[in-house]
Amino acid sequence: TSTTTVLTVNGSRREVSAEPDTPLLWVLREDLSLPGTKFGCGIGMCGACTIHVDGAATRSCQVPLASLEEGAQIVTIEGLPGEGVPGTADEPGERGLHPIQDAWLEAQVPQCGYCQPGMIMAAAALLRENPTIDAETVRASITNICRCGTYPRVAEAVAAAAR
Ligand code: FES
Repeated sequence: TSTTTVLTVNGSRREVSAEPDTPLLWVLREDLSLPGTKFGCGIGMCGACTIHVDGAATRSCQVPLASLEEGAQIVTIEGLPGEGVPGTADEPGERGLHPIQDAWLEAQVPQCGYCQPGMIMAAAALLRENPTIDAETVRASITNICRCGTYPRVAEAVAAAAR
């Protein structure tokens, strides 16, 4: 039987009815029409499905709907531009994007692009935890997988956003 859960997704209150063990990834993509979050492995290894739950980078394929607190704050790649906080390292840039997205554009990070929403969400959480992070620490910290091997540009972009 399905249960109804109320979540805050990208700043809006959303009511979701689904089986309790439905992964949040599928709730976002199928029930809430937010396809920016990608399915890669489905077993918590690749990071393509990374979103923020209460500010923390989280692999949404591993989060059953029933495990979320009522009112949990979910941010997906679609909502990341609105997550920028003026006066902090997250302050939005001239394009109105999150600074990590501006850095991604500057460094032309993506190749095929499939893993990049998850990569950006992981990077944004990392930058918030460590606003002065350097490229070497980024390389050691990001465990998301990119089959195109964009890792050097990922590290470059996060370090640039940290400056
Ligand atoms: Fe969730 Fe790979 S799809 S970690």
